[in-house]
Amino acid sequence: MHPIGRETRIVEAESLAAGYGQRAVWRDGFFSFGRGEFVAVIGPNGAGKTTLFRMLLGLQRPFAGSLSVLGDEPRRGNPRIGYVPQRHLIDSDTNIECLELVRLGLSGKRWGFNPFSTRDREDALAALDAVSARELAHRPLGALSGGELQRIFLAEALVSNPDLLLLDEPLSNLDIRRETDLLHLVNDVVRSRGVTALLIAHNINPLLPHLDKVMYIANGKIATGKPNEVLTSESLTALYGVQVEVLRDPHGNVAIIGVEEHHGDVL
Ligand SMILES: Nc1ncnc2c1ncn2[C@@H]1O[C@H](COP(=O)(O)OP(=O)(O)OP(=O)(O)O)[C@@H](O)[C@H]1O
Ligand SMILES: [Mg+2]
Repeated sequence: MHPIGRETRIVEAESLAAGYGQRAVWRDGFFSFGRGEFVAVIGPNGAGKTTLFRMLLGLQRPFAGSLSVLGDEPRRGNPRIGYVPQRHLIDSDTNIECLELVRLGLSGKRWGFNPFSTRDREDALAALDAVSARELAHRPLGALSGGELQRIFLAEALVSNPDLLLLDEPLSNLDIRRETDLLHLVNDVVRSRGVTALLIAHNINPLLPHLDKVMYIANGKIATGKPNEVLTSESLTALYGVQVEVLRDPHGNVAIIGVEEHHGDVL
């Protein structure tokens, strides 16, 4: 546990805009996430979901507006944030062991420095246990399946016991059983450790039973709130100014129809 920094607002954005060069990707973002909230971030390709994560990680400055993360300005390398990126570039001849990769998630530890202390090893093994992957500890990364890799990267993100977890499409590559397992796992981490998790996905439906909030990014705008408040025809139609239909089947599955893909607007 952290002796300081028990702030209740984990992420807070006002009038936030994201963009590259002269081009805004989205704007007018007002949102706030508290401790222990599970948030899905959804929206079409190119809407600016990964860009949001890059700003939270301090890799990119806000285009406009203000953003605070864990009570402070976003900064690079913050060990209180666990991050699983969207793409993993792992060659099949990568022979780093899973245990070693997970250890890299410990703050301040880098390849070549710091011998593997007993404590580090225990922490890394515990993180592998948390994702049910201890048996992969000594397997080379290059020899893992896509789904196994996703779990190892999640272990790396969890090993430093973060307060904020950013998961960029962790469900891609997973079969239905693994998808269900991973969502339960993230949900357990959120509920038992009070971690705030933002998870980017293309299909909201498997997430709905677990979510506290949803953030919908499309056409340069963002809607955030409880799923049954945001995911309605009325609220999305009002936000986007075009007719948006939110359809639900008898099982509660949602489909969103009518929001075009957005290619940004030049200021
Ligand atoms: N480094 C960059 N320089 C300029 N434009 C960029 C850069 N990175 C991303 N973009 C553009 O910003 C927009 C948002 O990209 P982003 O990666 O955030 O989308 P996304 O919602 O994560 O999409 P996907 O679902 O495909 O992962 C896209 O139009 C993309 O082309
Ligand atoms: Mg992305």
